[in-house]
Amino acid sequence: MDKQEVIQQAKRMMDEFLIEAKQYIETSFEKELRIETKSNRNDLVTEVDQYIEALFTRYLKQFFPTHKVFGEENAEHKIESLDGAVWIIDPIDGTLNFVEQKRDFAISVALYLDGIGEFGVVYDVAKDDLYRGEKGRGATLNGQPIQKVSQKRGVENSLLIANLSAVKLYPKLKEAIRVSRGLRLYGAASLEFMVVATGRAGAYLAANLAPWDVAASKIIAEELGCIVSRLSGEKIDMLHKGTSIVALPKVYQELRDSYLRK
Ligand code: IPD
Ligand code: CA
Ligand code: CA
Repeated sequence: MDKQEVIQQAKRMMDEFLIEAKQYIETSFEKELRIETKSNRNDLVTEVDQYIEALFTRYLKQFFPTHKVFGEENAEHKIESLDGAVWIIDPIDGTLNFVEQKRDFAISVALYLDGIGEFGVVYDVAKDDLYRGEKGRGATLNGQPIQKVSQKRGVENSLLIANLSAVKLYPKLKEAIRVSRGLRLYGAASLEFMVVATGRAGAYLAANLAPWDVAASKIIAEELGCIVSRLSGEKIDMLHKGTSIVALPKVYQELRDSYLRK
């Protein structure tokens, strides 16, 4: 199969997988969830996170038996290299929102071929909003092309999204927030990327995101003209956790020039 055939097949697989995933999640709203904690009392995993990742693995075995999975919830889904075809999945991004609010969480899935993000999907389940990006071919929301972000809008005319740990790392960000239109935080990294990618905020800055938090949304945001990097300006490598920024081009430049300094 050439790359285009793989991506066409990937779209078919994702469409089927997401229908089944959504049904399962909606049914889960009606029953009591089994919730466990991981690294701390607010780092949660539910049976739904685990089920969705396992469900995705079943689809992958059927559609692409030779591809690898790099996922948040299954210890076997850890990898050491991005060689070949690797799917990076966060089965529920925003688990705390899922548990506490039943909204503002997403399924995030990306396909990387030899380390290059080729295809990414972020699905806001509660809103039934499907963001899809394809390297070099733009991005869509529910099948409709999304407009590229503004080249002209700077910090002063933008809302900013930032977590407190990012502000602690770079205290000058407080000044950026002061001159901006205000601060927001939604609690699901992939959806926060989508808020910026669709031009509803100027930047999202976070101190500690995992590859599965950003793998799909980075592809979509870059297709729409956003800049994505570590807060230091370095490239994000998709094997390790670290800081992240996604921003409109002018906002990115202003933040890097004046505020992302120690
Ligand atoms: C978390 C969310 C949250 C971000 C955390 C992530 P999870 O993902 O994206 O917004 O601040 O760093 O771990 O654990 O809900 O998949
Ligand atoms: Ca996540
Ligand atoms: Ca998760």
